[in-house]
Amino acid sequence: MEKKDKELIENAVLASTRAYAPYSKFKVGAALRLSDGQIILGCNVENASYGLTNCAERTAVFSAVAMGRTDFDKLAIYVDSDDFISPCGACRQVLVEFSSKLKVMLINRQKKVHETTAAELLPMGFTKENLNQH
Ligand code: THU
Repeated sequence: MEKKDKELIENAVLASTRAYAPYSKFKVGAALRLSDGQIILGCNVENASYGLTNCAERTAVFSAVAMGRTDFDKLAIYVDSDDFISPCGACRQVLVEFSSKLKVMLINRQKKVHETTAAELLPMGFTKENLNQH
């Protein structure tokens, strides 16, 4: 594995420690690498009004956008679980908004890696190109 991917994984693990998940206790970490190598962290942020929870993936994406950056290269998602946790439907839609080519790494507790892409996670997704057709 490339050194920069190892670094991305370490950052996703770090981000998971920052999760605010007092209700589910399910701590998710996301690390989003931009085209210049900069890494933006995201964690899930829960709320007593459960439906207001923001997933780790969207936290990272929204944080990057707020920094004026949408040049996403690769996203790493880590959960301390035997399973690979893949983004929820809402997060998949948000990822595809910026790049269907976005590379995605799912990382489990054993630090095994499953490589995929935003397009693969959301086949036949609704995009801005569809909006321009009407
Ligand atoms: N969660 C994420 O942050 N990302 C995912 O990909 C799946 C789910 C969070 C939302 C909630 O805080 C907790 O995990 C349990 O669903």
